Amino acid sequence: MFDVYKIRKDFPMLNNKTQQGHPLVYLDNAATTFKPYKVIEACNNYYLNENANAHRGDYDLAYKVDFNIDKVRQTVANFINAKKEEIVFTSGTSMSINLIAFGYGMKYLTKDDEILLTEAEHASNVLPWFKVKEHTGCKINYIPLDKDGRLSIDGLKKVINEHTKIVAIAQISNVLAYLVDIKEISKICHEHGALLMVDGAQSVPHIKIDVKDLDCDFLSFSGHKLCGPTGIGVLYGKYNLLKLTDPFMTGGGNNARFDMCGNVAFLQPPEKFEAGTLNIEGIYGLGAAIEYLENIGMENIEKYEKELRNYAISKLKTLQNLIIYNEFAEGSIITINVKDVFAQDEASYLNSKGICVRSGEHCAKILHDFLKTVATVRISFSFYNTKEEIDILYEALKNGGDFLDAYFN
Ligand SMILES: Cc1ncc(COP(=O)(O)O)c(C=O)c1O
Repeated sequence: MFDVYKIRKDFPMLNNKTQQGHPLVYLDNAATTFKPYKVIEACNNYYLNENANAHRGDYDLAYKVDFNIDKVRQTVANFINAKKEEIVFTSGTSMSINLIAFGYGMKYLTKDDEILLTEAEHASNVLPWFKVKEHTGCKINYIPLDKDGRLSIDGLKKVINEHTKIVAIAQISNVLAYLVDIKEISKICHEHGALLMVDGAQSVPHIKIDVKDLDCDFLSFSGHKLCGPTGIGVLYGKYNLLKLTDPFMTGGGNNARFDMCGNVAFLQPPEKFEAGTLNIEGIYGLGAAIEYLENIGMENIEKYEKELRNYAISKLKTLQNLIIYNEFAEGSIITINVKDVFAQDEASYLNSKGICVRSGEHCAKILHDFLKTVATVRISFSFYNTKEEIDILYEALKNGGDFLDAYFN
């Protein structure tokens, strides 16, 4: 039985008040999430009881660390229905995408090839591909969005062609939050001989993912957006493709041997991609975060967040001064503007009421041309938010809209 009030007791940050003494209403979960005690304890446990390096020591303590890293790799694999050897630890979504862009894109693409993106992508799923273009001379094209900003299958069918080698898209975008039909898209990509790289930063924390069912070739996500620590993330890749991919970083821990002439024998994936000392406490925390989410149940999380979003939309829709950019999106994000109020001013005003939201372009700089606005206010939920918090947001939006209101209300 999903009980949000019981869940909230697991999060120490939710006990905090703002500088002005307001209860903290944290609605910036698309940026990063709060951590439950279990995650904090798992990180602490590494430093308090198991502090040794991984894959190096010949003593019990070091074996324990190796064992636990292996266990977390299996936990991550089970979480998305992958094989353990298909899970690479990275620092986050950005590094995961860069790894494929540099290790696969730069190695195999040529000037005759093409990469497909959308205008809604986060900078981390655009700029690495620009680097591939710069290096190989390949082309970058964009899958057209429909009038609401949704990636449509018809749009993809119109632009994909025999030159398309990589399609890189978010499963849920970080501004408009539409859920993309990855299964259908991977089918189309594969029919055209293209690989599908999925940016799962905003989907993996919110919905059940099964990479086998989706049949995507690569998937990236970040620990800190799913109640885990910062600085740890995951790249999933089909094993045969990981084998074809070059390491993005090299150094200790990713090679079997090397000699003075420059001959190097790299380890097999995933170790091939994990040069240098790993973020060990991050891996411990990531494992605890996934176990925590699974304990609640991804289906319960998805159902509750949907209910929360519907509640918020039904209230916000009654406010005549609001522009809602994504009323019908599936993800736990609502993007708005208050008419005639600059987004940053609105966010500062909400801050004065204890409400944390994000304003600006949200790293999706091309999308704001599509939306015909310079900036938006992004409200993003997690399963620990409540309807009472939405009521606080509603009252604040109803009563004030300008930065200066913060001083006069
Ligand atoms: C859709 C999307 N992709 C990529 C990223 C980058 O994630 P990270 O900063 O954890 O690497 C984000 C972060 O906001 C995101 O929302």
